[in-house]
Parts: sequence; structure tokens; C-alpha cells
Amino acid sequence: MIRVAYLDHTSQWSGAEIALFHLLTRVNKPVHPIVFLAEDGPLAIKLQEAGIEVRIVPLDEKVRKRNRNSINLQLISSAFSMIKYGRLLARMLKEEQVTCIHTNSLKSAIYGAIAAKLSALPLVWHIHDIVAPPYLKSIVAKGIKTLAHYLPDGIIANSNTTLSSLNLSQSSRRQKNIVIYPSFAEPSGSPSREVKVFKSKKHFTVLLVGRLTEWKGQHVLLTAAERFLPQSHVRFWIAGDALFGEQAYKDRLIQMIEEKKLTNVTLFGHVNDVSSLMQQADVLVHTSISPEPFGQVIVEGMAAGLPVIASNEGGPREIVVHNETGLLIPPNQPEALEQAILWVIDNPGTSQIMSEQGKKRVQQYFMIDNAVDQMVRFYPQVIQRS
Ligand code: GLC
Repeated sequence: MIRVAYLDHTSQWSGAEIALFHLLTRVNKPVHPIVFLAEDGPLAIKLQEAGIEVRIVPLDEKVRKRNRNSINLQLISSAFSMIKYGRLLARMLKEEQVTCIHTNSLKSAIYGAIAAKLSALPLVWHIHDIVAPPYLKSIVAKGIKTLAHYLPDGIIANSNTTLSSLNLSQSSRRQKNIVIYPSFAEPSGSPSREVKVFKSKKHFTVLLVGRLTEWKGQHVLLTAAERFLPQSHVRFWIAGDALFGEQAYKDRLIQMIEEKKLTNVTLFGHVNDVSSLMQQADVLVHTSISPEPFGQVIVEGMAAGLPVIASNEGGPREIVVHNETGLLIPPNQPEALEQAILWVIDNPGTSQIMSEQGKKRVQQYFMIDNAVDQMVRFYPQVIQRS
């Protein structure tokens, strides 16, 4: 039995945490997961409901909520808090007879490394972010890349894009690296995907799902939506909320909708059951304006049988085959987005074929059982190496 401690500094229901949830709710022997979260929240609740052991070990809010890019005097006090926290974790991990540590966020990668050193346990970094500007300041990215060479015994990246951002040159690699795609997990108890669901004949629905944050580009969709105002049957649904101090961006979106009188746009806020929105939608769009590390919602859309339109950079390029399973468009160009949506509206037959091919691609490359298998087989390799 491999007792793995999964560390995350946040308990928000956000991309990396959703990916972790899917892995842990499917993980099988010989892995026994114990999740250590630095705060209580939706992830903790959902994991507990799924019968997974969760320990809430509170971390100072100033450290938890600290902007990853800020370099100031508080950095020193944050570093002390992280060391203290790492020490506490090391003690707990020994008590729990943990055999391996798996960190799921950049902050937990740092305090997890401290805990790993103090407890002499093997360390796996699971990286969900592109370690480069514009997501990270150049100096912060450099620091993380350097640490990535020395601290973890194994690295899991959510895409080749993410892995290559770490610049782990072949010769200096001391650890094992692997790409495990965040994958599609059928919601338990939901009807089979083959069941035909009612789609509104009155409307053509464009759906965008994701955290409300500038780099996810919801404002680009609003600009495109404005061009569709004369075509009243086309409507735009935006699901997701501002999570990490991004309220100002949400306010900006609301203001844009009011000022431009975008009566064709609905902002849903956080939606628990995204799959039911997907069943009513006609196309899924993904509008990130800087490279998306992966983009698991695109996979979800493809699995739900939707044609997808996504920005032509980063993770989406690994998911979508242009013109075969969806359309890849230049980021941050409302006009290109408008044209792509018009194309899907005007070509229902070809779009349908794309959706079918998209579903097949999900079956081939993005199923959760494969991802879990890869992860379970990865630990012994890392443990052996350390
Ligand atoms: C992060 C990334 C997103 C990815 C998710 C799961 O939220 O921003 O692209 O899909 O993690 O790995």
C-alpha cells in the first residue's frame, strides 16, 4: 500500500482542484490517499462526501492568499510561515505513515518540499500552471524552474505545454517526469452521454465555462456577443465565478453587459452541474487570451458531444485537432470568435461530425481511468529513485 499525502493550499473548486478530485475519487489500490488542505472549503467537503480522508491544517491567510507574483518585505515573513507549516506537516505525515508526498499547487510545492526534506519522503510536484510570463513574473518563474531541478523526485505536468515551460533539460534531469492529462470523469449517476437531450430549437446557445478572470478572456466573448445582437436567436451563457480576488474583473464584465445592453448574455455565476448546461448548449467556446496550461473544460465539452472553439495556443492545441474535432482560433480576437461561431451555426452537418470525432478523441486520450493508471504507476518509479 502506498499512502500518498496530497497537499493543496486552496480548497476552492478551481481547475487544479477539480482535476485532483477526479483522480482521487477514482484512485484504486495500491494508493491510499490522504488530503492535507490549508483551508476548509468546497474541495474539502466534496472529498469528504466521497469518503476520502481529509485533514484541514490551517495556513496563515496572508500566505494562502498572497499574490504569487508579489516580491516585497512580506515575502520574508511568508517564508517563515511556510517553513513552520512545512515542519508541522512533516510531523503529521510521519504520524500518518505516509510513503509519498504529492503537491497540487505552486504554494504547496514549496511547503511540501520543506515537509519532504524534514520527513525524508519522496516528493512529487503536480504542476497545473505554465511556469513562465505572463502568468508568473519572469523572476518568480525562474525561481520555480530552478527549484524544479532540485526539489521534487518526480514531476507530473498537466500538458506538454506546462512541462516544457519548466525547461527541464534532458541532461540535468534528476527526477522522473510525466504528462498526465486532466481527464474526463463521467459524473456518477448521470444519464449516459448517448441519451439525446432536448436542445432549444428557438435558440443557438454559445457556452463559456471557467473562472472569471481576465486571462480567461470572458470580455472577448462579450465583444463578440455584441456583434450578434441583431440575431436574437443566438444567446451566450457564461458560467463560473470570480474566485481568487478577481471581483473587479467580474464587475467589469457586468458593467460591459449593462453598457452595451447585451440582452443576449447570461452570467450564471458558479454552476454546480456544468454538464446540464452543456447538454443544452450548441457550441462550447474557450477564450483564454494567454496560453492555457491545459483547459479541462474543453475535454468535458467534447465528451458532452459539443463542437468546440478554443484559442490556438497552449493546452487547447493538445486537446483540439483543428478542423477535425473543433476550431482553433487566434486568441483575443472577437472578430475571429464571431466568425468561428457563425461557421458552426452555418455548418451544422460538419459541426456534428466534428463533435463525433471529438468524443472519440476523448475516449482515446482523455479518460480518467488512464490518468489514474498513469499516476498509480508513477509513484513506485519515483519512490525507487528517491
Ligand atoms: C489549472 C489550469 C487549467 C487546467 C487545470 C487542470 O486550472 O489553469 O488549464 O485545465 O489546472 O490541470
